[in-house]
Amino acid sequence: MQIIVCENYEEMSQKGAEIITAEVKSNSKAILGLATGNTPIGIYRYLVEAYHKGGLDFSEVQTYNLDEYLPIDPADENSYAAFMHDHLWDKVNLKPEHCNIPAGNVGMEGAAAECAAYDQRIQAAGGIDLQLLGIGRNGHIGFNEPGDALHTGTHAVKLTDSTIAANGPLFANPDDMPRHALTMGMGAIFAAKKVLLVANGKNKHEAVKGLLGDAITTACPASLLKLHQNLILLCDKEAYHG
Ligand code: F6R
Repeated sequence: MQIIVCENYEEMSQKGAEIITAEVKSNSKAILGLATGNTPIGIYRYLVEAYHKGGLDFSEVQTYNLDEYLPIDPADENSYAAFMHDHLWDKVNLKPEHCNIPAGNVGMEGAAAECAAYDQRIQAAGGIDLQLLGIGRNGHIGFNEPGDALHTGTHAVKLTDSTIAANGPLFANPDDMPRHALTMGMGAIFAAKKVLLVANGKNKHEAVKGLLGDAITTACPASLLKLHQNLILLCDKEAYHG
């Protein structure tokens, strides 16, 4: 594991964007796995800036997002699809047909088929070259929540109280936050050639400790990542030192 500890959020974001930029420059057809949430917002901002300065071309790049709420309309402002349109997809020259995210409007009954189709699309694309990950306070990655077992493929999950407490306030009415999500499983994340996990702030320290400690446990899904051959932990001082 490569560990990069930055002074603050801006430096972390800049560095994260540099790593993704280098990937896209070395492979114009890169398959990027992307995350939503507060942490990667700065990275997306720097990527958009690099695109506008010229020299960063997303025209052949494909993106696959980790997760989406269930149920949610992709047009809903709280959807992760809307987040991606706002922060990256509509701000660079990514082709709309190259931007992928599980569909949250399939309902519980359509979830299994949507998940299987999503995994097939990722596989058909050749798998993920670089997977960007945030980390939940409880150690979740994507919405692979702590539990007795983790899943390999994309699947529907019931969100934990910790995740509902963290994300609920982002909704105008926190009670409107969907209680389920579709998430990529550990299989596609682990199959990624490179994983870039970003974490900032004191409230991520316990989760980062779970990643750095010796134990590998489904009680902290991120802890499994230390088995990945090509993992970069990019964090700020607060997340690293607490
Ligand atoms: C989002 C995702 C989640 C977040 C995690 C951290 O696509 O997969 O695992 O990365 O919940 O969220 P923030 O960055 O908001 O603290």
